[in-house]
Amino acid sequence: MKGIVFTEFLDLVEDKFGLEMVDKIIEQSELESGGAYTSVGTYDFSEMLQLLKNLSSYTGISIDDLLLVYAEHFFSVLEENYPSFFKTYTDPIEMLASIENHIHVEVIKIYPDAELPTFELVERTDNSLIMIYKSSRAMHHFGLGLMNKTFEHFNTTASIILEKIKEDGTEVKFIINKN
Ligand code: HEM
Repeated sequence: MKGIVFTEFLDLVEDKFGLEMVDKIIEQSELESGGAYTSVGTYDFSEMLQLLKNLSSYTGISIDDLLLVYAEHFFSVLEENYPSFFKTYTDPIEMLASIENHIHVEVIKIYPDAELPTFELVERTDNSLIMIYKSSRAMHHFGLGLMNKTFEHFNTTASIILEKIKEDGTEVKFIINKN
C-alpha cells in the first residue's frame, strides 16, 4: 500500500482525535515500518489494518465507518494531486465507469507497486451503474466514500447500495443511482 495512504490517514487521525491517538494506535501495533511513513514509500497493507483496528477499538467507530470518512478526506487529496483526471470527466457516472480502464491504469503507471481493486462493469445507463468490486483488502467502504465524493464533485448526489457477494467483503456489488 502506498505511503500517501498512510501519511494522509495519520494526518486525519491527528486532526480528528489528536496526536496522542496517533501515538497510541502506532504503539499498539506491530509495525515493520515503526510507524514512520513517507508519502512515496510502500508499506504492507497489514500495517494499515492494524492501525484501523486499534483506532476502531479506541473510538468505538467501526472500520467501515472509519474507511468511509477517510475516503472522503482522501478524495480531496486526489483532487489536489491529480487535477488532470478530474478535468477529463464531465459526469460522475462516466468517471466511475472509467476507474478500471483509465484512472487506475494511469495510477499503476505512476506507482507500479500500487495495490488496486478491480471494478467490473455489469450495467451502465446515463444515470445508473452496477459494478462489482474485488480486492483482497476488502476496502469497499473506502470505495463508497470516494464514490459519494465523486458525485459531490459534480454537484450532484446518488443513492448507492452495497451488496456483499462474499461475506468477508472481498467481492461486493455496487448499485449506483444518480439522484
Ligand atoms: C486505492 C488512486 C479514484 C477506488 C487507490 C490508491 C491510489 C489510488 C494511489 C492506493 C493504492 C495503494 O495503496 O497501493 C486513485 C486516483 C483516483 C482514484 C488518482 C482519481 C483521480 C478512485 C475512485 C474510486 C477508487 C473514484 C471509486 C470507487 C479505490 C479503492 C482503493 C483505491 C477502493 C483501495 C484499494 C483496494 O480496495 O484494494 N486509488 N484512485 N479510486 N482506489 Fe483509487
